[in-house]
Amino acid sequence: MKIVCIGAGYVGSVTAAALAALGYKTTVVDMDRMKVEQIALGNSPIYEPGLGELIKMTAGRTLFSSMSYEAVREADAVFICVGTPSAPGGSADLTYYRQAVSSIARHLDPARLTVIVNKSTVPVGTAGLAVSLLEDEGWEAGRQVSVVSNPEFLREGLAVEDVFHPERIVVGVSDRRSGEIMRDLYLPFIERRYPEALQAFLKDHYPRNKTRSAYMETDPRSAELIKYASNAFLAVKISYINEIAQVCEALGANVREVARGMGLDSRIGSRFLQASSGWSGSCFPKDTSELLATSAKYGCELTVVRAAVEANQAMHRYVVAKIRRRLRSLYGKTVGILGLTFKPDTDDARITQAASIIRQLAELGADIKAHDPQGIPMFRRVNPDLPVRYCTSLEETADRSDALVLLTHWQEYIEPDWEQIRSRMRGSYLLDTRNVWDAGQLREMGFQYEGIGLGDSSE
Ligand code: UDX
Repeated sequence: MKIVCIGAGYVGSVTAAALAALGYKTTVVDMDRMKVEQIALGNSPIYEPGLGELIKMTAGRTLFSSMSYEAVREADAVFICVGTPSAPGGSADLTYYRQAVSSIARHLDPARLTVIVNKSTVPVGTAGLAVSLLEDEGWEAGRQVSVVSNPEFLREGLAVEDVFHPERIVVGVSDRRSGEIMRDLYLPFIERRYPEALQAFLKDHYPRNKTRSAYMETDPRSAELIKYASNAFLAVKISYINEIAQVCEALGANVREVARGMGLDSRIGSRFLQASSGWSGSCFPKDTSELLATSAKYGCELTVVRAAVEANQAMHRYVVAKIRRRLRSLYGKTVGILGLTFKPDTDDARITQAASIIRQLAELGADIKAHDPQGIPMFRRVNPDLPVRYCTSLEETADRSDALVLLTHWQEYIEPDWEQIRSRMRGSYLLDTRNVWDAGQLREMGFQYEGIGLGDSSE
């Protein structure tokens, strides 16, 4: 099978590298020359653990990159993996998506069926919209071209593991032939029939992953909605535990214990119940706002999702209020922020808890120092107005700080050299919004430690 992936971002580069590792001849198309060149050289265009190795294994053999759409002519399937950011008003902006569809339309082979696969998260009804765009260009749907909805569920930072061990593959099709092509394409993923070199790579990196994959075929609209409904549900789950964390602090309970007890009920499940400073990232904020916008357009008010979004914003404010309670006036105080990406193991800093929390702290007069192992370049680029002194290490961030606030639990922050940090800080307040540091040890060392929702004797 021959594949084209349009877009070499967080979804496209992982999808393309995975399909190429399976042995499919795969071409990634992007308008960013840098990304295209990086892939051709065998390098990853983004920071994503494992991806560099995968691209090195495949570049020039089964993985190719280009700025032109030429490869579409011989492709069996064309995956659209372009960005669909939020437009003003909350709906997804389909500019890049529409451009991709019309560029594909100019390069299709009229003699056979090409399947266009929507991997980008697109509003419900977009597969139908693409079909009409293609029909307007003179293509016959079902015979020359089919549009399939195949949402991605990859988690940034774990995307390479997820792409080879998916829990579910959801495919929304409107004709039998495209359904068969998609099933053939995914069969090796479902049956874990991977080439030897890939098996060795997976055994080396994810030896314990025993996930089984469910393959679900449905109609395009339902497939599109599955993505939004899933992400909104997860956002609700986190907002919920974060509100419970606030109650824990008020009532003297421990949110980690409460979440552990809740998670023992398999109907609830233990995952996505970790209290934090709130959720963020390139999916949850944009997908919840698109779901709310589209539902409202059709007369449906999703009060639960709306409440989750509001609770999340309130959670960012709650963190700021906690810092204020300890430091009192923030004027002239230096707050060190650890973690500028929305989660560890990614350089993605497009939409982050850090931006919201830093903005509020700066408005209250605090001086901000910050560090992140991968996220500083992007964070700086998307937040040019934030007054932040960027540091090259955790220790430098601690230097003369009145408080250190952990927002993202990167591995290198988990067990730092506390003696050194204590001697470098001006104050002693630590706020651990991921509840990963050892409260007892830190208090013994003279730190004023606080977590989130740890309202028991440890608070
Ligand atoms: C999410 C979905 O999980 C994935 O299936 C989809 O394809 C894309 O969107 P991602 O955005 O990479 O993935 O991040 P995820 O791991 O889901 O975390 C989202 C946010 O929630 C992060 O800010 C994370 O720190 C936060 N979070 C997650 C919590 O605060 N607590 C939790 O228990 C879990």
